[in-house]
Amino acid sequence: MKFLSVVGTRPNFMKLAPLARELAKRMDVEHVVVHTGQHYDAVMSDAFFQDLQIPAPKHALAVGSGSHASQTAAVLARIEPVLEAEQPDLVFVYGDVNSTVAAALAAAKLQIRIAHVEAGLRSRDRTMPEEINRLVTDQLADLLLAPSMDGVDNLRAEGVPASKIHFVGNIMIDALRAALPSVEKRNVPAIYGVAGRKYIVATLHRPANVDDPVRLRELVSALDTLSQDRPVLFPVHPRTKQRMEALGLVPGPTSMLRVMSPLSYPEMLGLVAGAELVITDSGGVQEETSYLGVPCLTVRPNTERPITCTQGTNRLVESTAVAILTAARAAVPARPGARPTIERWDGRTAERIAAIVCDGASFDDWHSEGVRAAAEALLGV
Ligand code: UD1
Repeated sequence: MKFLSVVGTRPNFMKLAPLARELAKRMDVEHVVVHTGQHYDAVMSDAFFQDLQIPAPKHALAVGSGSHASQTAAVLARIEPVLEAEQPDLVFVYGDVNSTVAAALAAAKLQIRIAHVEAGLRSRDRTMPEEINRLVTDQLADLLLAPSMDGVDNLRAEGVPASKIHFVGNIMIDALRAALPSVEKRNVPAIYGVAGRKYIVATLHRPANVDDPVRLRELVSALDTLSQDRPVLFPVHPRTKQRMEALGLVPGPTSMLRVMSPLSYPEMLGLVAGAELVITDSGGVQEETSYLGVPCLTVRPNTERPITCTQGTNRLVESTAVAILTAARAAVPARPGARPTIERWDGRTAERIAAIVCDGASFDDWHSEGVRAAAEALLGV
């Protein structure tokens, strides 16, 4: 059997790594990796392939940055000949980025089967480009691999046949659990000169937060105020860096608001795991903090990951300085004693996916209740 995975951005790489490892155990499987090049800086891409031991991409499409339409179109045009040449039995697409929807569309037009890893998440906010990507990708996918039951419910409510939907769990947690033991040994906070539970980690990159100068000033000012009590480590995405530099918002070297380059996966995980509080607008960080039991404030009006609020440590907060400061002061003492347990966020998601796609004799079989039940029984779920 031949599978082809398409990835393009930092959060895609973490989702690919556990599945690539799992598929590599299967002698009868060929797994080809395609990198669209949506993210291309070494710190945003190469470092992740090395740290997560992802096999080198066989095809690099080098699409780079651009408007949504031009970036999506570049992936569409460049991936078509790759799919035609490789003729995979199934294409895996991951998450909700432009590369995801473009690869799904190209595969669908060539009548190649598609599996969507992280299917069913919905923010119900169509001003977010990712929501459009999620909706379209899930419409095109043949196999919808949901990280949580809310994802399954969303897909069912949209009329997706139950036979296409599999509740496999959260593959980001597979990556996290695989990396955590060695990360904990490294004591990453000490490397950055901060003491465990005595610092905040912040990340911001959503256009809604960083492309609006008024809002960005407000957010940086909130982080600056918080840094007067404790260090705030702020690894900055290239988009945010450009905006901050343009507005003259980069703090001086002596500030306790420490603006840093994007971090590697193990360094970021080590800092998040040891933090007192995380402030973010990322999707994956909401999940990682929930798994780790670290309080998280998400600077957004909604989330496609509501389970992180209902069962994890996440709280949505308005993007004003007052709201962030008030919520941060309330969140720090409210740290939960134990890590929350979220169903099927257990490190076995890649195993479940491999059982579904490899142990079915044909595509039709994957859709049959029998194969699905057998795969689930094999995994004891
Ligand atoms: C993309 C995803 C977003 C995801 C994020 C993770 C879409 C619509 N958005 O947002 O869902 O949360 O990745 O990081 O797909 N840039 C560089 N170097 C790079 C990559 C980007 O300098 O390696 C700069 C460029 O100026 C680029 C900008 O960052 O224009 C934005 O990059 P882009 O990939 O378009 O979107 P992200 O904001 O990274």
